[in-house]
Amino acid sequence: MSRQFEGKVALVTGGASGIGAAACRQFSAQGALVVVADRNASAAEALAGQLDGAISCNVDVADPASCETMFSMLRDKFGRLDCAFNNAGITEVTVLKGEPLPETHMLPLDVWRQVLAADLDGVFHCLRGELPLMLESGGGAIVNAASLQAHLSYPRTAPYTAAKHGVLGLTRTIAKEYGNRNIRCNAISPGIVDTPLNTDVINSDEFRDALLTSIPLGRFATPEDIARAAVWLASDQAGYVNGAFLAADGGIMA
Ligand SMILES: NC(=O)c1ccc[n+]([C@@H]2O[C@H](COP(=O)([O-])OP(=O)(O)OC[C@H]3O[C@@H](n4cnc5c(N)ncnc54)[C@H](O)[C@@H]3O)[C@@H](O)[C@H]2O)c1
Repeated sequence: MSRQFEGKVALVTGGASGIGAAACRQFSAQGALVVVADRNASAAEALAGQLDGAISCNVDVADPASCETMFSMLRDKFGRLDCAFNNAGITEVTVLKGEPLPETHMLPLDVWRQVLAADLDGVFHCLRGELPLMLESGGGAIVNAASLQAHLSYPRTAPYTAAKHGVLGLTRTIAKEYGNRNIRCNAISPGIVDTPLNTDVINSDEFRDALLTSIPLGRFATPEDIARAAVWLASDQAGYVNGAFLAADGGIMA
């Protein structure tokens, strides 16, 4: 495997599970010094312990103060940041803990706020720490986790859909604003991925077959499928890709 990230510092939020954990492994296998950042501190620490030169960071991206602490630690430890994968995220299902999803007019305000805080505000909080570090070190590459739902929707998913549409808009703004200073910003739009985030949905009798039928490739994505695409966007191989989204959805949107 190529060592294309040798000596580079790569931050992955939501790095302790699913797509983020796969991205941490891939960045590390290609030479990066990885920061496994997650609100699940023990899982982040366990993964960082398996990767050469990696460190973990206990962060809640929904909390601006927690993000500021993380970036001041990064500044002290490395003084630079080359790649960032803003991947931490939740859904309505996470907040409602398996309760049925209500229609939008019945959605508790708190559910709306929690999803937006993690999935949209969280990306903004991280950008506020990443951009100054990248400006100081002469550039960098940012990948934001969007979703199929940055482009289309499913009923009863208003907060997640709104947040992910917002992530795409934020991505495009950063690309336009900072491209002239060698900072690229792109989004990855995964389809339906077999991770803990999705277990309830993809294993449900109600949805599983219909979802599989909607995927031209006929299978759910693995976390590794998505991580490969995200890590590619963060690499110099994607050096002229800026402000784009990469659909890694098995062809659903086609
Ligand atoms: N799984 C899918 O089908 C799918 C599809 C499209 C997009 N995505 C996006 O991919 C990203 C990763 O999802 P996944 O499927 O790997 O989920 P996952 O649940 O396996 O992992 C998400 C990780 O993010 C962490 N996290 C959640 N909220 C956090 C917060 N506020 N601060 C810090 N860490 C936090 C969790 O602890 C967890 O380790 C998310 O942004 C998700 O919206 C996933």
